[in-house]
Amino acid sequence: MRKIKLANNIYWVGAVDWITRDFHGYSINGTTYNAFLIIDDKVTLIDTVKGPYTGELLHRIRNIIDPKKIDYLVVNHVEMDHSGALPEIMEAINPEKVICSKMGHKALLQHFHRPDWPYHVVTSGEEIRLGQRTLSFLETRMLHWPDSMFTYLKEDQILFSSDAFGAHFASSERFDDEVSQDILMREATKYYANILTLYSPFVQKLLAQVQEMQLPIKMLAPDHGVVWRSNPAAIIEAYSRWCTHQGNGKALVIYDTMWDSTKMMARAVAEGLHEQGVEYKLFDLQVNHRSDVMTDVLEASALVLGSSTLNNGMLPRMVDFLMYMRGLRPAKKVAATFGSYGWSGEAVGMMNAIIKELDIVLCHKGLKVPYVPEHGQLGQCVELGRTVGRAMQAMMAGEKVESVL
Ligand SMILES: Cc1cc2nc3c(=O)[nH]c(=O)nc-3n(C[C@H](O)[C@H](O)[C@H](O)COP(=O)(O)O)c2cc1C
Ligand SMILES: [Fe+2]
Ligand SMILES: [Fe+2]
Repeated sequence: MRKIKLANNIYWVGAVDWITRDFHGYSINGTTYNAFLIIDDKVTLIDTVKGPYTGELLHRIRNIIDPKKIDYLVVNHVEMDHSGALPEIMEAINPEKVICSKMGHKALLQHFHRPDWPYHVVTSGEEIRLGQRTLSFLETRMLHWPDSMFTYLKEDQILFSSDAFGAHFASSERFDDEVSQDILMREATKYYANILTLYSPFVQKLLAQVQEMQLPIKMLAPDHGVVWRSNPAAIIEAYSRWCTHQGNGKALVIYDTMWDSTKMMARAVAEGLHEQGVEYKLFDLQVNHRSDVMTDVLEASALVLGSSTLNNGMLPRMVDFLMYMRGLRPAKKVAATFGSYGWSGEAVGMMNAIIKELDIVLCHKGLKVPYVPEHGQLGQCVELGRTVGRAMQAMMAGEKVESVL
């Protein structure tokens, strides 16, 4: 079995999961659970893997060293995809210390109910000597759990960043320079959009903190996807754009429909956007997964949402999407809503109500059309698209755009 080296005496010992397709509602094409082994006077394992991959983790460790020789186990994050292996690993290695944050200690007890494990709680800035090398810790609360922390290997300038800077990306290769940059960046974008958007204020604070500390980062080793060794600055730069909600000047028309009336409206809205010189994408929720739509929402500057009314409410796929999007809290965009209806037409008002909870400007009160739209009503849809386009352009030009509702 090949030994995968990050640097001298530092190895990747994780597992590639080619099977998982759903990660709590986020569609993925497999992922990796990265764990890292440092051989020094104090042999250290950083993070473990999801439960079913415990055997593979041990196998990879044994390929390098007897697991019993591991002295320290660092738990950067307690979520099961990184700690599921812990009970078995603890039996196998019996370490001198389980290093975790204060919140990590609490979460470990609440997950595994083992007060007898040799916890060693660290706080930000604390250092532990391994022999030749030094580990230093940085608590990253709510990125994305209260227990999350980073571990920095000073001499080698490697930042083990837990879930941050990760991507659900399964590949035979382990480093950024060995895979397609387009696919990698798309997966990293999808990861931020679906896991971190709501924690953007924490990401902003963290990036400022890391900059202030002037940490030289030669390698960024997250717990999912590849290790960023050729250009770690690229993903840090992307995070600084995403966490400030910088828009790309593009619009999304996202809709669902029963008998295609709302679809006709969506296509006319898109025409209006185009007439206004705005690039757009059309997402029919019947064929697009919520997490793929969310990936585009992250960078889009305008959202136009369409649903007809079903049983005095929105269509179920729009409910699903908006509940999902509301939780992730995208911000700094303009939006409008539309939909066909028969007699009561509540869907548009309901979509507006959800948008109003977010830091997103409603630039139109919403367009409703009874049953099947005719030529003039489709013209109103085109006009709606133009209105959204103009509001978005004003926002991009730095003008203050007020909500109409
Ligand atoms: C099962 C069902 C329930 C409906 N419930 C409502 C309703 O509560 N209020 C309303 O205004 N229209 C209701 N409608 C009418 C639709 O909103 C209307 O047919 C609309 O044109 C459908 O647009 P679409 O083709 O974009 O789905 C309902 C239609 C169906 C099939
Ligand atoms: Fe996590
Ligand atoms: Fe994770």
